[in-house]
Amino acid sequence: MKKIELHVHLDGSVRPKTVSELLNYDIKDVKNKMMVTSDTKDLTEYLTKFDLPIKAMQTKDNLKRIARELALDLKDDDVIYAEVRFAPILHTKEGLSLDEVVSSVLEGIKSVNEIKINLILCMMRGFSYEDNLKTIMVTKKFLNKGVVGLDLAGDEKKYQTINYKDLFMIAKDNNIPFTIHAGEADTSKSVLDAINFGAKRIGHGIAIVNDDKVLNKVKEKNISLEVCPTSNVDTKAVLSYEKHPIKDLFLKGVKVTVNTDDRTVSNITLSKEYEKLKEYFNFSDEEFLQMNLNAISSSFMNEDEKTRYTKMIMKEKKLN
Ligand code: HPA
Ligand code: ZN
Repeated sequence: MKKIELHVHLDGSVRPKTVSELLNYDIKDVKNKMMVTSDTKDLTEYLTKFDLPIKAMQTKDNLKRIARELALDLKDDDVIYAEVRFAPILHTKEGLSLDEVVSSVLEGIKSVNEIKINLILCMMRGFSYEDNLKTIMVTKKFLNKGVVGLDLAGDEKKYQTINYKDLFMIAKDNNIPFTIHAGEADTSKSVLDAINFGAKRIGHGIAIVNDDKVLNKVKEKNISLEVCPTSNVDTKAVLSYEKHPIKDLFLKGVKVTVNTDDRTVSNITLSKEYEKLKEYFNFSDEEFLQMNLNAISSSFMNEDEKTRYTKMIMKEKKLN
């Protein structure tokens, strides 16, 4: 099935073999360090899984290779359009400038023709105002030149969404579309703050299932949720896959999209995620189509591209 993916992190989706080659580490060791196990405690521990790939993502060539390989992996997963995100500031530890980081990732993804990928740049919770402001400025510089939006990632439990209001006001004043990780490790209040800042989409957002007021606001404003079920099980945001609220949210009329978050960390592909959703919640092909159309309409593509991708998805449906 042709698919759209709006929420996938570059650093969480690096091939273990590549990290092993680039850092000269044993592959078993790399897998242990990069992938979750069932006893990963929470989002804080989950986020330590990014340390090793980030170590390997400090040169232009490595960034180019890793971005190209993710593009190839997405293509093999039948993803026809993706918005790939990462925090450029994390890749400046050995001297690269933010511009060089973004340009290298763009070069890598553009080297794969059969898939269209745009980038979302992440500010980081817990990083300084100045560093996050630099991320806004590089987003502005590359906006509509391969970059389509801004995000806020990192530890939502330790650093609350409300503390990032001033930065998102600057993004808004600069007409930069943004999505915010919210309602993943924190409550629906975090989602409400993100909506009030002007977020067009919410990363995860599953906490709204217990709060009709915020849920109705999400619906009223036609905000979509970038839901990543396996990741939510891995960070213990939900107790188990069968207890995930995705179907409830979908049936309540929330604009749900399906995503992987971190392919390597969670050992998942979008095809596997769809299989699990079918198995645990009996999602039908019609419902998967609806969620892909949701993804297209809430993507940060321009209107012409949205029409083009809608046609591509609908055409496939007619063929079946
Ligand atoms: N939440 C916050 N930050 C992240 C995540 C996530 O799920 N994945 C990668 N960085
Ligand atoms: Zn994420």
